[in-house]
Amino acid sequence: MQIFNQKEAFILFLKKEKEQNPITGLVPTMGALHQGHLNLVQKAIEENELVVVTIFVNPTQFDNKTDLEKYPKTFEKDVEALKTISDKIVVFAPSTEGIYDNQVTSEKFDFDGLEYAMEGKFRTGHFDGVGTIVKKLLEIVGPTNAYFGEKDFQQLQIIKKLVEKNHIPVNIIGCPISREKNGLAMSSRNERLPDALRKEAGFIYQTLLHAKKKFGTESALDTINWIKEQFELNPNFSLEYAEITNEKTLKPVKTKEKNKDYRLFVAVYANDIRLIDNIALN
Ligand code: PAF
Repeated sequence: MQIFNQKEAFILFLKKEKEQNPITGLVPTMGALHQGHLNLVQKAIEENELVVVTIFVNPTQFDNKTDLEKYPKTFEKDVEALKTISDKIVVFAPSTEGIYDNQVTSEKFDFDGLEYAMEGKFRTGHFDGVGTIVKKLLEIVGPTNAYFGEKDFQQLQIIKKLVEKNHIPVNIIGCPISREKNGLAMSSRNERLPDALRKEAGFIYQTLLHAKKKFGTESALDTINWIKEQFELNPNFSLEYAEITNEKTLKPVKTKEKNKDYRLFVAVYANDIRLIDNIALN
C-alpha cells in the first residue's frame, strides 16, 4: 500500500498513475476508520481504477478545541483496515502545515443558506472548515468520483453545492448510513461511548424510525414535539435539536406537500459526546 505524507510527492505520483488509471475515486476521512468508512472505500474500489483515501483531522472544522484534541487518532489501525479491502489503495495523510501552507484558516463560503441550518447553527464556522479542506483535497486529487456518507447529510448537500458553485468536475456520491447492530449510526465518536451507553444508544435510531411512522399521519410540529418528549423521558440522552426539513433546501417543513422529499435530523449528547443521525421520511 502506498502512503504519502508530502503533498508534492503525492501529486507527482498521481500524475503518473493517472496516465494508466485515469478513473479516480476519492474517499476523504479524518481517520479512526469504522465499517461505515470501509463501505465507502469498497464502493470506490468497485467504481474506479485508482482509489485515494485521505486521512486528515482538519482543525478548521472544529469549533470546540476539546473535541479536536479528543478526536481519536488510530493511523496504524486504519492502514491495516484499508489493507483488508485492497493493497492498491493510496493513502494521503498530510500534516496540517503541509496542507494549509502555514495559514490554518478557513475560506469563507456562500452555500446559499444551507450552511445556516442545524449543524451550522450549533457549530460556528464548521462548514467553512469543511468546504476549505474538501476543496483543497479535490484540487489536489482531481478525482472522477468522491464519496461521502449520508450520516453527515447536511455536509453532503453542502459539498454538492461547493462543487456546483466552483465548477469542480467531480461526481459527488452520497452513500447510505452504516449502522451498528442496535441501529446506532456508525461514527468515530462511538468509540468514546462507554459500553452500556453505546448499547442504549440504539434508542436514537428507534426514535427516528417511530417518528417516521408518525410523520405519515401527523404534522411536522407534532412529530417534533413527540421526539422531544421521548428524549425528556430518557435521562441518558439530551437532544440538541430535532428538525424535519425539505431534503434539498434543508429548510424546516411548515406544511407537508405532495412530491417533496423530507428528512428528519437530530443531534444528541450522550455524556459529552455529540452524536448526529437522520432518516429519509418518504
Ligand atoms: O466527514 C468527514 O469525516 C469530514 O468532515 C471530511 C469530509 C473528511 C472533511 O474533513
